[in-house]
Amino acid sequence: QKKHKVAIVGSGNWGSAIAKIVAENTKHYPDVFQEEVKMWVFEETYLLPSSHPRYDFSKHSQPVKLTQLINELNENVKYLPGIRLPSNILATPDITDAVKDATILVFNVPHQFVSKICDQILGHNLPYAKAISCIKGVEVSSEGISLFSDVIGRRLGIYCGALSGANIANEVAQEKFSETTIAYQPPKDIPKEQEMPKEYPPVDHATFKTLFHRPYFHVRCISDVAGVSLGGALKNIVALAAGFVDGRGWGDNAKAAIMRVGLLEMRKFGKMFFADTCRTSTFTEESCGVADLITSCNGGRNHKCAKMMVATGKKIEEIEEEVLNGQKLQGTSTAKEVNEFLKMRGLEGEFPLFTAVYSTLTPILMHIVRGGWSANPCRHY
Ligand code: NAD
Ligand code: 13P
Repeated sequence: QKKHKVAIVGSGNWGSAIAKIVAENTKHYPDVFQEEVKMWVFEETYLLPSSHPRYDFSKHSQPVKLTQLINELNENVKYLPGIRLPSNILATPDITDAVKDATILVFNVPHQFVSKICDQILGHNLPYAKAISCIKGVEVSSEGISLFSDVIGRRLGIYCGALSGANIANEVAQEKFSETTIAYQPPKDIPKEQEMPKEYPPVDHATFKTLFHRPYFHVRCISDVAGVSLGGALKNIVALAAGFVDGRGWGDNAKAAIMRVGLLEMRKFGKMFFADTCRTSTFTEESCGVADLITSCNGGRNHKCAKMMVATGKKIEEIEEEVLNGQKLQGTSTAKEVNEFLKMRGLEGEFPLFTAVYSTLTPILMHIVRGGWSANPCRHY
């Protein structure tokens, strides 16, 4: 029997942490997977700090390619510093090389880059490859709103599920315990060319549990792809609100109120626009719902930058640039995209918290939160 070949598309903070998990499991389950995992890297040069424990002046005194550093040091020194990656990860700057013979594709890039990356992959992926999106965001166009699992699936002509949970990447990479949710429910009747050839093991919930579950990373598999994707995307808007509250020093009770209301708006959004598939229990019972909301409103980057925005009066984009070292916030663009979608339908008033977060991000209205959130979005519930 043939073995599945896994490729990771993306190598940021979470991309690298997920590559570590996957590579540990491809090594652990050699009957199911080929050991080597290719990880696509958006190439850049990087000057290794001389404080790095394996700094070698003869090699590192000038900026070198990030892929070269990752492969030499088994560490993503820019986006996941201090974490040793398994040596069976092979970083490559060539996206077509990364995906060309992979039967399982794991997408893990900031959501704003997905469409362009799919354009580069198109025609190079196996028609029967299966994918999992670890991306937290939504795509809004004049036609409406799409989940990234759907965007990837549609553009590449393959089926794509979703993985999302309370998963701060640095904690997962340090092997601190966390849970995650994987949703995978391919339609029964798929075109012949998309069927996995019989020589490969079938790809199902058990396959993804084998690929992602670790003693420190517990996986639950469900079928609600919309709920899993929306939980991850929408909680980033709420995490910004929680950051504003902490920046103002309004206290834990106020933050809990924001989280409660945020969860209600997440669930309402899912039920209103993805009614066919989205389940309430995904938001209230799974890691990708309430648990991710809690962790992100305390330890996430959106929360941290929003808190600093209020404390300093700077624009959040400036803070992102100053403190994240190339990592990307997802909540700011998601707040804007969700607002555009709601505005087109005259539904901003139905989601007062999402609407208030978007307004607060625009500099003109930032004084509202700096002075006190006069139109308290929690009043509506
Ligand atoms: P990140 O925030 O670390 O972003 C940096 C990555 O973006 C780098 O790999 C960089 O090379 C790449 N990049 C920069 N410019 C690019 C371009 N023009 N084209 C393509 N790539 C470019 O990324 P991340 O943390 O891996 O996040 C990926 C997804 O995972 C996001 O949707 C995020 O919400 C989600 N997520 C993140 C975490 C976390 O704790 N970091 C946890 C769970 C989920
Ligand atoms: P941030 O992007 O706000 O850091 O959120 C990380 C996350 O999604 C944790 O589950």
